[in-house]
Amino acid sequence: MRKRIPAFVVVLLLLTACKPTQKNAAVTTFDPYHYSITKKVEAANGAVVSAHPLASKAGVAVLKIGGNAVDAAIATQLALAVVYPNAGNLGGGGFMVARLSKGETIALDYREMAPGAAHRDMYLDANGTANTQQSQLGHLSSGVPGTVAGLFAAHRYAKLPFEKLIQPAIELAERGFIITASEARSLNSLQPDLKKYNSVMPVFVKETPWKEGDTLVQADLAKTLRRIREKGAAGFYGGETARLIVEEMKRGSGIISLDDLQQYRAKSRTPHVFDYKGYKIVGMPMPSSGGLLLNQMMKMIEHRDIAGMGFHSVGAVQLMTEVERRAYADRAEYMGDADYYKVPVTMLSNEDYLKNRMKNYDPERATPSTVIKPGELLRAESEETTHLSVIDKDGNAVSVTTTLNNSYGSRTVVGGAGFFLNDEMDDFSIKPGVPNMYGAVGGEANAIKAGKRMLSSMTPTLVLKDNRPYIVVGTPGGTTIPTQVFQTLVNILEFNMSTEDAVFKPKFHHQWLPDEVMTEKGFPPAVKEAMTKMGYNFGKERSGIGRTECIKVLPDGRFEAVADNRGDDAAEGY
Ligand code: GLY
Repeated sequence: MRKRIPAFVVVLLLLTACKPTQKNAAVTTFDPYHYSITKKVEAANGAVVSAHPLASKAGVAVLKIGGNAVDAAIATQLALAVVYPNAGNLGGGGFMVARLSKGETIALDYREMAPGAAHRDMYLDANGTANTQQSQLGHLSSGVPGTVAGLFAAHRYAKLPFEKLIQPAIELAERGFIITASEARSLNSLQPDLKKYNSVMPVFVKETPWKEGDTLVQADLAKTLRRIREKGAAGFYGGETARLIVEEMKRGSGIISLDDLQQYRAKSRTPHVFDYKGYKIVGMPMPSSGGLLLNQMMKMIEHRDIAGMGFHSVGAVQLMTEVERRAYADRAEYMGDADYYKVPVTMLSNEDYLKNRMKNYDPERATPSTVIKPGELLRAESEETTHLSVIDKDGNAVSVTTTLNNSYGSRTVVGGAGFFLNDEMDDFSIKPGVPNMYGAVGGEANAIKAGKRMLSSMTPTLVLKDNRPYIVVGTPGGTTIPTQVFQTLVNILEFNMSTEDAVFKPKFHHQWLPDEVMTEKGFPPAVKEAMTKMGYNFGKERSGIGRTECIKVLPDGRFEAVADNRGDDAAEGY
């Protein structure tokens, strides 16, 4: 990314960066007009991997001035809200899983919430037909945003004042940054939707096509960020920002009210933890299905010699496909916001239950999804999202996945406030059996209810070895998220792959319904051919599945940070 900028701008940047004693002094020690993308770093003090190089740099800048991994994760998320509007957000939600230096593990839930006026049948017409247009696009598709509440909930584990963490984002929004070729392409394809779902035209609308090297300045977003800096979470859930959100709702017949915004709280959850061959795996509990699905899939392979079968062997791919199928059948039936629906987590992760789930597994042929029903519980007793992984030298490890749901969410930008609203309501089951945008189905467990949080697939994950951080991993990708984290972990823990190979090698995905194996460009045709003979259906090949950001701790204690090569993702460290 290269663009000539006037000399006075460079001087201004340098001067601002050289006044560290000033209140809200710039921590931005990088140049948003000239940057490159690094896919892998090895670092001794700390590392950040995210979907955009400027966001990763913002995180490392914060580490360098004494912040810990939580500080860096907050700064990176805020920067992503500016430089990666596809999924970085203020108007969405997310999850954070962290292991703190003293050994405590935490899980923060700042998932969006159904507004108070939401109800089970809100997307059905008079004939009971589901209207997925309304759940996926425009004002009615938005849940109450959780991200800002989540950032402040996380801040209690941070070291630096919030003002310092938000400063890089404010500078990037105010001064602008150079966009990449892929950002230009995606903004260009967005133009018709932007015009359709906005009456106040946002800065992203442009009459001539966006191109690589253009500068994106977001003045309204900068003002919103400044209000958050001055007033904290109340700068978003109250005052001017809340007023602008409610006004935007009125313009587009949306239902998020001032009361909804003021009621929103991030929640501390108990992480979903399980063992796998001596490693402790720490994941996100409900309302994300991610931790439990990963648990089910890993446990269903644990006692089989998958390493002996080999990476991308027919045997290994077939086994993993079958465990994915079974776990996702359970997702559809049993998983939802556990504050509203009794999710049988203990039973679904019970080893006997999972052994039983594999009873009809046949290594010679496919088990059709018509045969695999959700498991019978023994009576003994939830694609565009973004992930960031951060680690620091004190043993803090942070895994954050955050989302607007679809790319650019609802496609509605809050007029005057400059940020996209999510279309997360589509992650609810809007009608039993009606697939959401990822083709996933659900029922009662994930039905819409006011105040309830929609089931997610986000799988921010940590692997601990001897109770110390070993792997920090996660990815975007809708329902493919848990299977991509699963495959990345199996690649490292079982196939002994390098971190780069584990992340870059082609992936596959099965989610029970539709009954097909989705594969990525580069997936071996011979495996497809062999599995087709065994009764598997292969859907259309996809150009990419997931964008995994992975940090692994090396035997000498340094950090190997790898950013996915499927996008502009970048690893930074020092
Ligand atoms: N919106 C994608 C997810 O939460 O799973």
